[in-house]
Amino acid sequence: MRRPLACVSLLQTAALSLALVACPLSLTAQSNIPADAPYRNPAAPVEQRVADLLARMTIEEKATMLSGSGWMESAPIYRLGIPAIKMADGPMGVRSWAGSSAVTSAANGPAAKVLATSFPSGVTMAATWDTELVQQEGQAIAQEVKALGRDMILGPTVNINRVPLWGRNFEGYGEDPYLAARLGVAYIKGVQGEGVIPSVKHFAANNEEFERHRIDAHIDERTLHEIYLPAFKAAVEEANVWTVMSAYNKVNSVHCAESTALLTDVLKKEFGFKGFVISDWGSTYSTAPSVNAGMDLEMPGGQPMQTWLARASTQASGNGAGWLTAEKVLAEVKAGHIKEATLNDNVSRILRVIFASGLFDHPHPGGGEVDTPAQQAVALRGATEGLVLLKNAGSLLPLDAAKIHSIAVIGPNAAVARTGGGGSSLVRPAHAIAPLDGIRDRAGSNIDVKYVLGVGMEGEDPIQETPEARANLLRQATETAAKVDVAVVVVGRYPKLESEGFDVKTMDLPAGQDELIEAVEKVNPHTIVVLNTGDAITMTKWLDTTPALVEMWYGGQEAGHALASVLFGDANPSGKLPVSFPKRFEDSPAYGHYPGENLKVDYAEGIYVGYRYYDTKNVEPQFPFGFGLSYTTFTYSDLQAFPLEIATGPKSSPMPLVLLEVKNTGTSDGAEVVQLYIHDNHSKIDRPAHELKGFQRVELKAGEEKEVTFLLGREDFAYWSPTKKAWVAEPGKFEIQVGSSSRDIRLRAPLELKK
Ligand code: BGC
Repeated sequence: MRRPLACVSLLQTAALSLALVACPLSLTAQSNIPADAPYRNPAAPVEQRVADLLARMTIEEKATMLSGSGWMESAPIYRLGIPAIKMADGPMGVRSWAGSSAVTSAANGPAAKVLATSFPSGVTMAATWDTELVQQEGQAIAQEVKALGRDMILGPTVNINRVPLWGRNFEGYGEDPYLAARLGVAYIKGVQGEGVIPSVKHFAANNEEFERHRIDAHIDERTLHEIYLPAFKAAVEEANVWTVMSAYNKVNSVHCAESTALLTDVLKKEFGFKGFVISDWGSTYSTAPSVNAGMDLEMPGGQPMQTWLARASTQASGNGAGWLTAEKVLAEVKAGHIKEATLNDNVSRILRVIFASGLFDHPHPGGGEVDTPAQQAVALRGATEGLVLLKNAGSLLPLDAAKIHSIAVIGPNAAVARTGGGGSSLVRPAHAIAPLDGIRDRAGSNIDVKYVLGVGMEGEDPIQETPEARANLLRQATETAAKVDVAVVVVGRYPKLESEGFDVKTMDLPAGQDELIEAVEKVNPHTIVVLNTGDAITMTKWLDTTPALVEMWYGGQEAGHALASVLFGDANPSGKLPVSFPKRFEDSPAYGHYPGENLKVDYAEGIYVGYRYYDTKNVEPQFPFGFGLSYTTFTYSDLQAFPLEIATGPKSSPMPLVLLEVKNTGTSDGAEVVQLYIHDNHSKIDRPAHELKGFQRVELKAGEEKEVTFLLGREDFAYWSPTKKAWVAEPGKFEIQVGSSSRDIRLRAPLELKK
């Protein structure tokens, strides 16, 4: 079959362009490849197809595959019918693939071409503790990826929330490696189940944005294995993830993109990863060392990469790119610095994913529908289940629509839908429901809903430039709040203050927001404070007098409706914090070891991250990990733990080992997230007070009781031994704890681990 002329001429140019990527595969596979070549047979085993195709490739073609052909496309080889993998950012929906964040943010203006469902941020989904829902979210996003003609979504983000100031905390699944692992696995299964390629990121220890290209995270081996790697391990071992994205930063003095310790020893050998490693965008700094360390695909590539790299700002921020071009790779192969066997391994990994995902046989032509009612429903459920009710003094909530006549919705985040934090994850939706919209829709015509800004958003609203203007805004807010039945103050940050690319400056709310809350609370005793943030903020100034407090995170396009449904009691809140909220930044475990000095950050707190720190060192957080209120009450009883079965081995042959009863003792239907922690009574080494090793979100009708069952394996009792270089479960006495948060343990049972 003849290749279209346009494609031929483009192929002859040095740089593979986006236009080339668009050449239809069916027109390009060459006739001299027999139709019955094993690699072209969809029924042949993947490994056979990989081996057959690899054997037909020239060394030049192999080298071409190690770098992208464009901003978001891998290199196609038309002679053999190898398609480009067409990517899109993620993780909470499909973002434009037009170029760097700067380019796509501009493209995200009113004329945006890519309008996709904006799903709730990672931290919101983590607050649902609902693995089934996260899997549905992954599936829905994958369907949109295909509908838009792409093949790969750059997510999920499973980096651990180490410091409350990390600019990307909103993207990840919180502070606990077990929770992050469960949710990462669920997301990946949802995506891969649709034949779409996910990329679990960023491997590893991308826990701050400060100098993210240059920062060198010093982390001991045990901490790496117990805190920062488990979500990646689970992604590989349980979800069989197809790609892993390396991080920008250095770990123990080596850039992740050229870390043999991470990419080869841990990921490929220890975890058994069979897919390909993709660099973060501009995270490579060498040719042979990167390839030999296990880097398989450098992104971006082609002309878009060259143009971007030539910019002073790209260089200044420390990006590295253009190291794995065919020319450079071939030169290193010829010089003997890269073995052909290594190149074969890189290419085999990429081919394996192209075959395993179905992309080779069933390309995604696009032209499908996105933002469908079904996808919106997933986004709405995520935003609703992820809402965390933190305080409800005097049962102000839920609001009784029959008794309320007026509501004032106040604040810089009230009338604008702040769907996500900033950076590569920010999706442009076709519509988004702000808190004010949601409350208005729900309140109907019998309740008068007023809106006042109260304070402009820091850095956004010129309206508050003078002290007079600020006083005026505040006065309008208090005057309105004083006259209504209920005041809802929606505060928080926005993408210019909480984003990829820089850390959040302070745990305090942006300028004027504390004062707004205090002033409104003074004039209206029925004030509900709503936080629209990706992580904890300091609330000591007003919390004692605040009647009701809700964390809505960045809940995506449906968040306004989700908020209203919880405020009015149509939905019973069931979200639980996936991260501890400290009282002050100074109380957080990494305080004093962040952001580091001279571009080196020492993870001196070791394994004591989040509740492992607060609960072991007895530092009282503002709100503990796993905490969240409901409009109903739950009791826990009849805990039983079976010690004998524990010796039977890993979860692959699980036995029901922990049983308990949970009852909804209130008058409304609701859901409880039952959490299981393990406490080690006897360890010879230092271990945290307890560690989360199981959870279940249980829906219970009013008065209903259910048995909850947990399956445990030896690994749930283990710690990482740097001397043995293995997970070690020491036989002896443990305690099983079940409860409603890390600090609300309701039942305990001893359990002995036999040899
Ligand atoms: C981010 C990644 C993202 C990539 C492509 C990088 O700056 O760290 O998470 O997937 O850009 O946009």
